[in-house]
Amino acid sequence: MAFETDGIVVKNDRIKPLYFLLTIYCPPIANEIKAGQFIMLKVSDNHSPFLRRPFSIYKSYPMDHPQKNNRGYLLILYKKVGKGTQKMAEFKKGRKVNIIGPLGNGFSFPPLPSSTNIVLIGGGVGIASLYSLAEVLGSPRLFVFIGGKTKDDILCEKDFEGRNASKIFIATEDGSLGYQGTVVDLFLSQEKRFKTGAPRYIYCCGPVEMLKRLARAVNSKGVVCQASLEARMGCGFGACWGCVVKTNHRKTPYQRVCKEGPVFNIKDIVWE
Ligand SMILES: Cc1cc2nc3c(=O)[nH]c(=O)nc-3n(C[C@H](O)[C@H](O)[C@H](O)COP(=O)(O)OP(=O)(O)OC[C@H]3O[C@@H](n4cnc5c(N)ncnc54)[C@H](O)[C@@H]3O)c2cc1C
Ligand code: FES
Repeated sequence: MAFETDGIVVKNDRIKPLYFLLTIYCPPIANEIKAGQFIMLKVSDNHSPFLRRPFSIYKSYPMDHPQKNNRGYLLILYKKVGKGTQKMAEFKKGRKVNIIGPLGNGFSFPPLPSSTNIVLIGGGVGIASLYSLAEVLGSPRLFVFIGGKTKDDILCEKDFEGRNASKIFIATEDGSLGYQGTVVDLFLSQEKRFKTGAPRYIYCCGPVEMLKRLARAVNSKGVVCQASLEARMGCGFGACWGCVVKTNHRKTPYQRVCKEGPVFNIKDIVWE
């Protein structure tokens, strides 16, 4: 159940030229939020910009978390792209921020055979929503694919290395780090690794073009893929219908990214 609450900025560090890591002390949300859900953040004290901005939670530490010093923290990994995120980049320690959350339906965890190859594919800042997922998955056969345009868009790889990731693969479009090409190309080039007869299960998040290509590649093979979608959002809780995507559902073809999503089965989306 979503609610509105205030948090306090603990720190707001620039980690790459265009990327920041915002830490907010907000126990009520940290206690409740699940992997793949998001919050709507009020980024300004006046009305410019008027609308809240949606963000996934990169990491959250509920009040019973074993890391006592981090209890109550929410971490948001964000890219400065426009007016709202520019305002966020100016947030200083001690600032009060208003939050609505937890919102949306996060990732689901169907029971899978232990031999399943679980694949996480993140493009750019999309990788942010997959880290908390990796924390709860705990699979012995986890493959993480991280992509970006350049090495400055490759995020979180150190965090994944420190977790239970069986193997991390990096792709940059300009070849400045790892494989040269898109993260989907890299994933497809590594398919032989998964041909052990074991099933595959994919979770992904990234730009629309990436998800579209991935959908084309996996749908024909019958591989299940949960995709976390992004959309411009007005309200964030299902009231304005500003965030709809077209799906294959016969009765309800238009579904709200904020309410029915942001996580969908990739085969249910009509990619136009
Ligand atoms: C469920 C969800 C989770 C998200 N999680 C994160 C996150 O963890 N980290 C992060 O950096 N961003 C995330 N985003 C995207 C983030 O909400 C936008 O980048 C932000 O709203 C941009 O605000 P702005 O005012 O800076 O940009 P604006 O001035 O509003 O727009 C600047 C440019 O960014 C584009 N843009 C804005 N919003 C989006 C969007 N939602 N999708 C695609 N393009 C957009 C615009 O078309 C425009 O070109 C998420 C979005 C959704 C829907
Ligand atoms: S943003 Fe208003 S319905 Fe989704």
